[in-house]
Amino acid sequence: MRQIHICEVGPRDGLQNAHQLMPTEAKKAWISAIAAAGVDEIEVGSFVPPKLIPAMADTADIVGFSLRIKNLKVVALAPNVKGFERAVAAGAHKVTFPVSASRAHSEANVRMTPEQMVEQVRKCVALRGKTGPEIEAGISTAFGCTMQGEVPEDDVVRLAVLLAEAGVDCVALADTVGYANPAQIKRLFSKVRKEIGDKLEAAHLHNTRGLGLANALAAYDEGVRHFDSSMGGLGGCPFAPGASGNVITEDLVFMFESMGLSTGVDFDKLMAARKALVAGLPEEPIYGHTPAAGLPKGFKAA
Ligand code: COA
Ligand code: ZN
Repeated sequence: MRQIHICEVGPRDGLQNAHQLMPTEAKKAWISAIAAAGVDEIEVGSFVPPKLIPAMADTADIVGFSLRIKNLKVVALAPNVKGFERAVAAGAHKVTFPVSASRAHSEANVRMTPEQMVEQVRKCVALRGKTGPEIEAGISTAFGCTMQGEVPEDDVVRLAVLLAEAGVDCVALADTVGYANPAQIKRLFSKVRKEIGDKLEAAHLHNTRGLGLANALAAYDEGVRHFDSSMGGLGGCPFAPGASGNVITEDLVFMFESMGLSTGVDFDKLMAARKALVAGLPEEPIYGHTPAAGLPKGFKAA
């Protein structure tokens, strides 16, 4: 039984910000290897205009491929109704929408206000009917924004309530630019939880200031059991100045497994997937403390 649910977002959050394009076949090999390591949810790409983010041009193909992997929840990001329709046509199990709490980031990222994004999400909830994919809203820049600076906590709470009312299945809080600290994480997750209860599900944390694991643990203490993370610490939003990689999957797995909390992920197989990542993106710097140091002698997985 998994006590911690990890969604690997490297193929989307990582590759959208990488310096080179990963060839489609290499993406498929990497995604297969991540799934073979036991990760049962992967955000495999986004349905955005290919001109805007060329690295995501092959997402429909990648979703189709990923659907053939057993027991894998296939997630795709969509920024609007058109992206959602493409995700539905491709067969994604879950679609996640980036809804920024910062007005400045929202306009830079999706050319819409937060309220207009909520309307896009509301339309998609109506469109999917009973058989469509699961819908998640990720509240970006929930802990601060490089363009706007401080993001008032009340704005995040209000947005979470609007999204819950719009009918999303779950909400994630995202630290898009790595501004959060553990005290802030506990405070904001607790405030949002009071308003929307179990609809608050995941933490999407970036490691820009090295606090990714500390923030993940703070979120865990606040009851969060779903975490986004990125292999090799790739990641970052191209429309958020200063954004860098996500919390590193390998280190997150090590932290929880060594605490006795099962992630369902096999560390050695995760290292094999890391090789597939390097093979597909040979010039990209990749990170990770546990991959560099190795597992401690006598390490026992949960
Ligand atoms: N997929 C493919 N094409 C799309 C699309 C989508 N999801 N949404 C819009 N388009 C196309 C339109 O059909 C139109 O094409 P045309 O010029 O051939 O007529 C063109 O793109 C412009 O459409 P418009 O609705 O005016 O979009 P925009 O230029 O205002 O951009 C977004 C809005 C939301 C599509 C864009 O800002 C976006 O994709 N943002 C997401 C960025 C991102 O992925 N950030 C990182 C993840 S957080
Ligand atoms: Zn992100």
